[in-house]
Amino acid sequence: MLMSIILTGDRPTGKLHLGHYVGSLKSRVELQEKHEQYVMIADLQAMTDNNADIISTNILEVMKDYISIGLNPDKTTFLLQSAIPELTELTFYYMNLVTLGRLERNPTVKTEIQQKNYENSLPMGFLCYPVSQAADITIFQADFVPVGNDQIPMIEQTNEIVRKFSATYGEGIVKEAKAVLSNTQRLVGIDGKAKASKSLGNAIILSDSEEEIRRKVFEMYTDPNHIHVSDPGKVEGNVVFEYLDAFYEDKNHLEDLKAHYAKGGLGDVKLKKLLNQTLQDFIAPIRERRNALNDADMKNILLSGTKKAREVAVRTMKNVRSAMKINFFEQH
Ligand code: TRP
Repeated sequence: MLMSIILTGDRPTGKLHLGHYVGSLKSRVELQEKHEQYVMIADLQAMTDNNADIISTNILEVMKDYISIGLNPDKTTFLLQSAIPELTELTFYYMNLVTLGRLERNPTVKTEIQQKNYENSLPMGFLCYPVSQAADITIFQADFVPVGNDQIPMIEQTNEIVRKFSATYGEGIVKEAKAVLSNTQRLVGIDGKAKASKSLGNAIILSDSEEEIRRKVFEMYTDPNHIHVSDPGKVEGNVVFEYLDAFYEDKNHLEDLKAHYAKGGLGDVKLKKLLNQTLQDFIAPIRERRNALNDADMKNILLSGTKKAREVAVRTMKNVRSAMKINFFEQH
């Protein structure tokens, strides 16, 4: 099988959490074995709605998360978005291939505009971040983009821009990419309300201490009507079961536990103890690896990956510019 090019990215707005792990990190560890994988730290995209200090302090934290969960710099190319100016250039060209109306209809952006109360004062940079993401994906000629399902509209938007580009300037210069969904598409927050997110404070962070993990597990939303151990409990929408689904390996035993809980007689505390143990066992080796990492090494890994990635970006942009006839001095 031909090696495919994979591109993914994260905004460096905080340390990564279990939601990131389930939604994308886990599949990246598998994908790096068979494919050429690029992982971008999307600091420019993060600037569309975050403060500069948060972003600059989290770049190395995210690098540590990557390495500690098993991404290998010999197999995965890590890159820093802001250090590749060709990305910004391509974003600017792509702006002509997308309309305001289309960007406003992007379902992910639409939800975020509401969440951030941007209805009356929408920064253009924020509205246009899907265009910049299209540049991210296409400049490296990515075939696949492994993401959670909230990112599907970004890939659709990317592919529309690619089709428009190809129809306007010629085929084969930039190409369409496919989204790859991870199995468990999104992990809910410990409050059971929305997806796990650092800003909502409802996520278990990969670098949380043993005590923080325990506290969060015991705060988890279960079934408010499951008052006595003997009461029948609801499995659906029960955060503890959602996390067990994602992390507990003995699936047969898990099915027995669900049946027992639904019937009555299985208490929340017992269940939470099992989940706590499961998550502690999962995170302990990650924490240990993380503690052994240092900033200088992380910086070097990111720098050498960025240099390598930039060569690809420069090559793509040469073709893009010549297709768009933005090469005046080379022609005259
Ligand atoms: N939008 C993605 C997120 O918020 C981050 C991202 C930036 C990305 N560029 C990308 C993801 C390119 C995949 C491909 O998680």
